Amino acid sequence: MTSTTPVTLRVNSEEHRLDLDPRATLLDTLRERLGLTGTKKGCDRGECGACTVHVDGERALSCLMLAVMAEGREITTIEGLAGEGGALHPVQAAFIEHDAFQCGYCTPGQIMSAVACIREGHASSESEVAEYMSGNLCRCAAYPQIRAAVLAAAGTMSPAAAVPAADAEAAATVSTATGES
Ligand code: FES
Ligand code: FES
Repeated sequence: MTSTTPVTLRVNSEEHRLDLDPRATLLDTLRERLGLTGTKKGCDRGECGACTVHVDGERALSCLMLAVMAEGREITTIEGLAGEGGALHPVQAAFIEHDAFQCGYCTPGQIMSAVACIREGHASSESEVAEYMSGNLCRCAAYPQIRAAVLAAAGTMSPAAAVPAADAEAAATVSTATGES
């Protein structure tokens, strides 16, 4: 019998107290314990990017992270990206506008990576976007449309505006804790 450990996870600005197998990945916990199935499982071994989420505002592969390692950190999933009243994030809107998906399986991970890519300041050209989005695979090969959507979203918003509300909260918590302003 496996013993469980109590873990508090903060996901999309909400706290969840869970008893978890210490070996549970963040990906399985999000999907199977919290019902947040927007984050997809592709390869389950760090190769496809389908499981990309933000942890403390930075992209992370949730299949490679144990849930216990995420305690005390701010996790943002695709479900937490939309703004008030469900208004689409500019990157989500750009993906629709540019038809940047076919089956859609890779799309949540692509969008989470794209938001981070823009925020990191790595969306100034098609080749730069291709380089910094290269960890996200699309088996439908919608790459030209994905790159177009990222470039369009980058052009319509400043890197600061690409910060989802939950990520902004995480950044504020980190700067308070570190004394940075
Ligand atoms: Fe995590 Fe493929 S499911 S990288
Ligand atoms: Fe099908 Fe990317 S849209 S895998």
